[in-house]
Amino acid sequence: MRTLYPAVLLAPISTRDEEAECCALQVRDEQIDFIASNAESLEEAAECPWCEPLAVRAVHSGEMVGFLMHALDPDDNGRWLYRLMIDRHHQGLGYGRAALRVLVAYLRDLSGGPDITLGVAPENIGARNLYASEGFLETGEVLDGELVMRLRT
Ligand SMILES: CC(C)(COP(=O)(O)OP(=O)(O)OC[C@H]1O[C@@H](n2cnc3c(N)ncnc32)[C@H](O)[C@@H]1OP(=O)(O)O)[C@@H](O)C(=O)NCCC(=O)NCCS
Repeated sequence: MRTLYPAVLLAPISTRDEEAECCALQVRDEQIDFIASNAESLEEAAECPWCEPLAVRAVHSGEMVGFLMHALDPDDNGRWLYRLMIDRHHQGLGYGRAALRVLVAYLRDLSGGPDITLGVAPENIGARNLYASEGFLETGEVLDGELVMRLRT
């Protein structure tokens, strides 16, 4: 069991260079169906002001190692985690868990109620393990083929 996690920070994606850096991040080939590309997510964010796209950066190097996007979903006025990805070259090192923990701490201070909800593909065992081990519970709902999981903070 891993006991130490790399420190990460969540940073805005503001410049063209940062957008390009974000769009260059890729998941593993077998994970492509689990998540939209970062380019698609940034397009969505540009059209949906309730979304906040954030870069996951390793503190020790400053390198962008992943991407996430949360939103105050206008449909239910609840806080959702729409995307979380770690670049294929940086997976398995604790960045995903570290990013999720930083995000949960950050969202506690924002409006949108105490819960954080997400959808995950049933076959996405890695992500399901991660979310479950951080306290997300399956609600029993299925949305667009994805299992809904919710963290009560
Ligand atoms: C899910 C994802 C973000 C995890 O990021 P990561 O940095 O590789 O994960 P971590 O190294 O922090 O591992 C955290 C936990 O995730 C789970 N996990 C990650 N990869 C796993 C795998 N291949 N098999 C089983 N469990 C896995 C484990 O529970 C792990 O904890 P452990 O190392 O203590 O066993 C990453 O695999 C990813 O980007 N996947 C593709 C995109 C995606 O599916 N996003 C989620 C959409 S809902």
